[in-house]
Amino acid sequence: MTLEPREFLTKMEKRMLFNDEDKATLQANADWGKQIAPEMTEHFYAFLNRDEEMANILNQKDGRMDRLRATFTEWFSEMFTGIDNWGDAYAVRRWRIGLVHVKLGIGPQHVVPAMATVVREVNNKIEADGKDVGINNALKKICMIDLAFIEQAYVEVSSSAVRQETGWSEALFKRMIATGSNSM
Ligand code: HEM
Repeated sequence: MTLEPREFLTKMEKRMLFNDEDKATLQANADWGKQIAPEMTEHFYAFLNRDEEMANILNQKDGRMDRLRATFTEWFSEMFTGIDNWGDAYAVRRWRIGLVHVKLGIGPQHVVPAMATVVREVNNKIEADGKDVGINNALKKICMIDLAFIEQAYVEVSSSAVRQETGWSEALFKRMIATGSNSM
């Protein structure tokens, strides 16, 4: 895989203007994040389960929903702690989450509305709990960074799979995409 998770995280932090102040705000509210995580998890899967296609994926295997509730709650809390202060461990974990979704065929059409739900529900909760707007700004940024990991995993895995299967170089692959998109 060509993507180096830590490098990608650093690039996304810069692009998203996710700064030390945002990190400090999130860490200062880590207890609140942990406390609201189970409620956010319920909102999240209630939203996903309303869509027939997504509900099918979620309920395909026995025990999957229980696993998902636990891993999503953990993921939500980690946005506040940054795991290792948004270091290697955070980057590798986000990259792995991206790969899991790619393997399951869960694409942008599923993930983008899902992350929009997280942002919306957090916004509602922040208003209800009378929390500072700074938390909302910081959380929106880290949500978008996490989303970028999942989306980028999709692109990286698809292109590397095609190149591996065909032996095409990266330059040839890019040229073919550019040519192909002209005819769409
Ligand atoms: C905001 C977007 C999302 C986040 C943050 C998220 C988070 C996670 C996490 C943390 C895991 C565990 C990964 C691991 O095992 O290492 C996971 C797995 C999974 N996610 Fe998501 N997810 C998102 C969107 C979706 C959507 C839209 C679907 C389905 C339509 C979905 C279905 C699944 C499934 C089926 C698994 C594997 C569960 C298993 O069998 O263990 N996820 N997700």
